[in-house]
Amino acid sequence: MSDLTAPKGTFDTLPPASAQFRAVRDTLTAPLRRAGYGYVETPVFEDTAVFARGVGESTDVVSKEMYTFTDRGGRSLTLRPELTAGLMRAFIEHRLYSGALPVKLWTVGSAFRYERPQAGRYRHFTQVDCEALGVDDPALDAEVVALAVQGFRDLGLADFELLLTSLGDSTCRPQYRELLVDFLAKLDLDEETRRRAEINPLRVLDDKRPEVQAQLDDAPLMVDHLSDSTKAHYDAVREYLTDLGVTWTEAPKLVRGLDYYTKTTFEFVHSGLGAQSAIGGGGRYDGLSAALGGPDVSGIGYAVGVDRTLLAVQAEGLDVVADAGVQAFVVPLGAEAKKLAVRLVGQLRQAGVSADTVYGDRGLKGAMKAADRSGATHAVVVGDRDLADGVAQLRDLRTGEQSAVPLAELFERVRATVGA
Ligand code: HAM
Repeated sequence: MSDLTAPKGTFDTLPPASAQFRAVRDTLTAPLRRAGYGYVETPVFEDTAVFARGVGESTDVVSKEMYTFTDRGGRSLTLRPELTAGLMRAFIEHRLYSGALPVKLWTVGSAFRYERPQAGRYRHFTQVDCEALGVDDPALDAEVVALAVQGFRDLGLADFELLLTSLGDSTCRPQYRELLVDFLAKLDLDEETRRRAEINPLRVLDDKRPEVQAQLDDAPLMVDHLSDSTKAHYDAVREYLTDLGVTWTEAPKLVRGLDYYTKTTFEFVHSGLGAQSAIGGGGRYDGLSAALGGPDVSGIGYAVGVDRTLLAVQAEGLDVVADAGVQAFVVPLGAEAKKLAVRLVGQLRQAGVSADTVYGDRGLKGAMKAADRSGATHAVVVGDRDLADGVAQLRDLRTGEQSAVPLAELFERVRATVGA
């Protein structure tokens, strides 16, 4: 046994379980593809400044969890802890803001955070990410939220909840922040929490400890101090969500782990996951573009954690694998039959039938086991005697029924039988 293993907090996704992962990932992206969002790829590493400035220096993500390294050219680079800042960097770099707006984008890929690993919390994980950039329209907020909901629904998930709030914007959050700071200053808090209250007072609202929560009952809430325009924005978002058939829970103390949020902010939680219950989250981020040196344009988006959503799918006992896998499996017995098998598998694959055969001499028993494991509905078994008779045996692996098929008709018969 080698001493090399996957790094702490990471894992390998192997067949056959990987089919579930892929099904979840693809089901979550399907609503985005159907809604006309364009696919983007950006590098998995960026200039460290993209995240330091974009996500915010005071967040745990930036201050404690980034995989940052200096490359051989002396640049400080960081493996992306999330996908939004990189997409915004690309939006600005390629001046997408000067074309038709909004620019609607989606991507899916790896993210990296140096977190303490536990069930549902990993150092390498996969996010499906959706961003609609350049337009501040509450209807767009509702569209984005509804797309995330659609993905969960398409998977058959039922035990999830949308937590929704508005975090205000520069017209009202500074005043609210002062109110909150004054309120927190009067509480009985330990030194570290006090320090946190100074850097990012909103984070204290999210403190899970009962002794802290008990003191927060009368805390001022952002939603009660929204400016007229952000309140109107939030009201409109909720009306559109109702029109779209999306239900939610008001979460006035919702705090996200990233600094860029303004106005509409949300999270999806699943009740079957224990401590790491967030399967997705997002919101509007009016200041992100400017923070990255771009024009003053807003955006709204979300990311869904594929790994956690898979855990939610498993927690609800859902069967999500629609992938047929191999349809036909060819079992050759003998050297001549092997030639036929290789040719037949090649022809079937070219015709769009998923087909496989055995490699390495395995004998009938091993080969039939491989056929069963492949999930194929049909096997073609050919031995030397069959060849001499000019036939092959076509066997339905579900019923065990078998019939001899003339070699000249074999390809067409297999193709017709497996329904391709
Ligand atoms: P986030 O809430 O930090 O938001 O992450 C989104 C989702 O990624 C989480 O709800 C969770 O499912 C998953 N996730 C986060 N960290 C881990 C981890 N260590 N292990 C497993 N899964 C994890 C963002 O990343 C924002 N960029 C979302 C966004 C897009 N906001 C606007 N646009």
